[in-house]
Amino acid sequence: MFNTSRGISMLLAMAITLLVIAFLSLMEDSTPTVLIVAGAVCLSAAYLLIYITLEFLIFKEVGNIYRVLDKIQKKNPGYITPKGSKNSISPLRKIQGSINSYAAAKNREIEVLQQNDAFRREFIADISHELKTPIFAAQGYIHTLLDGAVEDLNVRDKFLNRAAKSMNNLEKLVLDLITLNQMESGVVKFNFTPFDMAEVVQEVVDQLEDKANRRNVTVKFKPGSEGRFITFADKEKIFRVIQNLISNAIKYNKEDGEVTINLKATKNNITFKVKDDGKGIPPEDLKRIFERFYRVEKSRSREQGGTGLGLAIVKHILEGHKSKISVSSTLGKGSVFSFELPLHKETQEKLVTMFSFF
Ligand SMILES: Nc1ncnc2c1ncn2[C@@H]1O[C@H](COP(=O)(O)OP(=O)(O)OP(=O)(O)O)[C@@H](O)[C@H]1O
Ligand SMILES: [Mg+2]
Repeated sequence: MFNTSRGISMLLAMAITLLVIAFLSLMEDSTPTVLIVAGAVCLSAAYLLIYITLEFLIFKEVGNIYRVLDKIQKKNPGYITPKGSKNSISPLRKIQGSINSYAAAKNREIEVLQQNDAFRREFIADISHELKTPIFAAQGYIHTLLDGAVEDLNVRDKFLNRAAKSMNNLEKLVLDLITLNQMESGVVKFNFTPFDMAEVVQEVVDQLEDKANRRNVTVKFKPGSEGRFITFADKEKIFRVIQNLISNAIKYNKEDGEVTINLKATKNNITFKVKDDGKGIPPEDLKRIFERFYRVEKSRSREQGGTGLGLAIVKHILEGHKSKISVSSTLGKGSVFSFELPLHKETQEKLVTMFSFF
């Protein structure tokens, strides 16, 4: 009641009236009737004057300022009216509270914008660098051929092959960037169907067999006793996740190394695990390898044809499946990458019954 103009006016008017009555009662000829009349006149006059002053000079203006702050608040969902300021008796303290909280919200916004700006600049620098490498390489080979090397058949074939390889890398980079951009802007649709993870892993292993042989890396995969690992997910995208993880395990392994792939079904989930015995990843790099273009050994990874986008895509695809990628690594010993997908019980049970029947 005392935080409205009426309450405050009444409180002050009563205090003034009490003072006036106390003063008048000191006079000898003041009668109780005079005191009552004087008190009533004083109370109403003081109340009216204080009320008008407060209402028109302070509360109305404060109300206007509040309305403006309210509009700003509605436009800025991050801005929160400070607790207690609404009930504060002093209107100026109320406004100070609101303005302080507005300034804090704006500061936070500025910080986010500055971070985004730094991120954008870093991204443009990275992308220019990544594009420059294959373009300059192909340009170099083509110019050397034009300058006369085309006459030598051996050199011609070698340089044309290298130029074509650079162009392939450029194409992979652009396609990966498009995929990543589509994932981040949420335009990619996920097509969920039941499928067997063991089949997808086997397909990827077959596809990467040549690559493993070239590095003398042994890839071990046995689906385990359950035989079937039916999940409900986007098959094509999960294929891509498994492909990048196994490809990394081969690519960053030591010569003659080993890659072990494991599928394990629990009551509700299927766990995919790929283990290599390569160089491992230093702890300080472990969190950053999922960032776009982040590579542990920049030159080595680029030499091996990597764009540094593979794990960023893996992370986004798994997020789209409400799952996440886990990694553990020991320097000099190797790394383990794993993720979980839900077990599709209905189809799994149907297939198990069907196969036990045969
Ligand atoms: N199994 C692994 N062992 C050691 N380092 C790894 C492993 N997997 C990934 N990395 C490191 O993480 C970096 C990022 O991997 P990512 O798959 O995103 O990119 P990439 O393999 O370089 O390129 P892309 O997958 O696009 O062809 C790699 O460059 C490598 O340095
Ligand atoms: Mg990769």
